[in-house]
This record gives sequence, structure tokens and C-alpha cells, in this order.
Amino acid sequence: MAIRIVREDGDEILRKKSREVEVIDEKIKQILDDMVETLHHYNGVGLAGPQIGILKRLVVIDLYDDKGPIKLINPKIIKQKGEQEVEEGCLSFPNEFAKIIRPEEVVIEALNENGQKIKLKGEGLLAQAISHEIDHLEGILFVDKIIPGTLRYVEPDNEQDK
Ligand code: NI
Repeated sequence: MAIRIVREDGDEILRKKSREVEVIDEKIKQILDDMVETLHHYNGVGLAGPQIGILKRLVVIDLYDDKGPIKLINPKIIKQKGEQEVEEGCLSFPNEFAKIIRPEEVVIEALNENGQKIKLKGEGLLAQAISHEIDHLEGILFVDKIIPGTLRYVEPDNEQDK
């Protein structure tokens, strides 16, 4: 396992669309493990392939509860419901936070790392994280969706705000 470098704002790879994973081999499993390690290293909630420079539809999410970490391959939202206004950040924008609207509930289909099709329902924070990470796979970033006037900057060493 290894901690990967997280690509930050201005890196054009963050704006590219990721490709579907066709074969789940050892290399893919290794990338997912590295993504989880990187996520934990930075105390993040979610990380998507492009953020470590890999344009594949790979997502990891950890809410630090009994469900996590969740590894998703080719995740796709099949249903979404409601709205929630949330404050959000992103490991690729380490100093920026803003309010944005996310769905209150999502249902996704994906493959797990064993290649099995899974269906997952997320509400609240999980719905927010899933929506944020799947946006990354389309090259969409949270700063595209901010509610005007809510962007705030946090000093890099102000760790308690992360
Ligand atoms: Ni992000």
C-alpha cells in the first residue's frame, strides 16, 4: 500500500472524464487500497480516481462508521431524492469550503472489488459523499456548484476545520 499524491485545484486531470473499469485485476485492487490509505492519511471522507491522477471510475468513501471504508467500481446513481444544503470541502481544494445543494438520498449501483454488482442506498452525509465523488468521475468539482457568497478560505494549518 502507498499514499498517493492528491492532485489539487488547477491540475487539468481533475476536469477530465473517467473511463469505466472493464477488468478488476490485482492492479485495480491495489489502486483501491492505495486510495483508502490516502483518504485516511488526509482524514478525508471520499476520494475519486482522478484525484490521484487515474482516470478510472473508482471511488472510495469512509464515514468512519461501521460501514466503511466503501470501495466502488463504476458507481452509477440510479435514483435520487430530495435536497440538502451542506457545507462541503474536497481534498483537491484543501483550503476551501462552501455551501452547496446535494441530494438528500441516492441509490447507486456499482461493482465491489470482487466484481459483484452491489446496490447501495445513501442518505445525508453518505448521499452527499457519493454525489460529490461521482461528480469527480465526470470532471465536475464542488466549486462548480457553490451557493454564491458562501465560499470561505481556511488557513492550511487550521486543522480543526477540516
Ligand atoms: Ni472531492
